Amino acid sequence: AALDAKIKAKGRAYYGNIIDQNTINIGQVTNILNTEFGAITAENSWKWDAIEPSRNNFNWGNADAIANWATSRGKLIRGHTLVWHSQLPGWVQNIGDRNTLTQVIQNHINQVAGRYRGRVYAWDVVNEVFEENGSFRNSVFYRVLGEEFIDLAFRTARAADANAKLYINDYNLDGPGPKIDALLALVGRLRGRGTPIDGIGSQGHLIVGQVGNVEAQLKRMGDTGLDVAITELDIRIQRPVDSTKLAQQQRDYETVTKACLNVPQCVGITIWGVSDRHTWVDSTFPSFDSPLLWDDNYSRKSAYTGADTAL
Ligand code: XIL
Repeated sequence: AALDAKIKAKGRAYYGNIIDQNTINIGQVTNILNTEFGAITAENSWKWDAIEPSRNNFNWGNADAIANWATSRGKLIRGHTLVWHSQLPGWVQNIGDRNTLTQVIQNHINQVAGRYRGRVYAWDVVNEVFEENGSFRNSVFYRVLGEEFIDLAFRTARAADANAKLYINDYNLDGPGPKIDALLALVGRLRGRGTPIDGIGSQGHLIVGQVGNVEAQLKRMGDTGLDVAITELDIRIQRPVDSTKLAQQQRDYETVTKACLNVPQCVGITIWGVSDRHTWVDSTFPSFDSPLLWDDNYSRKSAYTGADTAL
C-alpha cells in the first residue's frame, strides 16, 4: 500500500510531500502525490514574498491553486510559513519601528491564516529563528521586536485559525548541540507565558550516511509533550552518485521513517519533493544530488523501498 496509508495504519496522521506551480501540472508528479501522500505543503507559494509582495497587497492565485488542489483530493495541508526571515519582501525587511512591524505581522497572519481557516492541519508559524550557536537569528523580526515576535506570531495565528496546529520549525535539529537546546528552551518559555504552541517541526534536510542522531533528537522534542513532525525531509548524496550511496540512502530513509514511528509524538513526515528532477538541492547544494524517492524519470528508487520497509 501507499506510504500514507501505511503510516495511518500505524496511528500517525500523514506521509506528505510538496507541490507548487512547477509541478502541479505534471501528471507523473500528481499521480504519485495522489496515490502515495496524504498531506501537501506549498514549496514556495505560501511564503510572504509570494503572498504579500507589497504592504496589504495580497496575491492569492498560486496559493489558492494549491489549497484547492489539496482540499479537493482530501489531502491535509501544512501551511508553510507565516513568519520567516527568508523569501521575505524588502518592504518588511526595512521596517524599523515596533508598532508598524507588529501591525504588519498581525495583518499578514490574519489575512493568510484567516483565508485558509479550517482547511489547514498545521502551520509553521515561525521558521528558522535560531542560528547554529543557539542565539536568535538577526532577522528584522528579532531586531525590532526581540523574542516577543514569536509570542505575537503564535497568538495571532491561534486567533486567526483556532483549529490549526501551530508549529515552530527549524533545520539542523537532527543532532545534539546548542541549536536544539535553544529551541527546546524557547518552547519552555513560550508555554510558561501561555503562548499557544502545539508542535515542533524538524525540517530534516539530511546527508546520506549522517542520519544516526535523528531519533534521539525527535524523542527530546516529543518529551516536551508537543506534537513533532519531520517537515522537509530529503537525504542528499554527494556527487558522483553510485550504487553504494543509493543503497545507503535506502537504509537512511528506513532509519528516519522508523525514527518517527519510534517517537509516539511524531505525527508525520513530509518529504521535500517527489522526483529528483525537481529538487531545491540541485541549486542550493550543487555538489549533491538525488535526495528523493523517485528518480529524474519518475521511477521509484531504492530509497522508496527504504521508507516503505519501515512502515
Ligand atoms: C526552498 C524551496 O525548496 C526552494 O524552491 C526555494 O528557492 C527556497 O526555499 N527551508 C525551508 C523551505 O523552510 O521553505 C526551503 O524551501 C528549504 C529550506
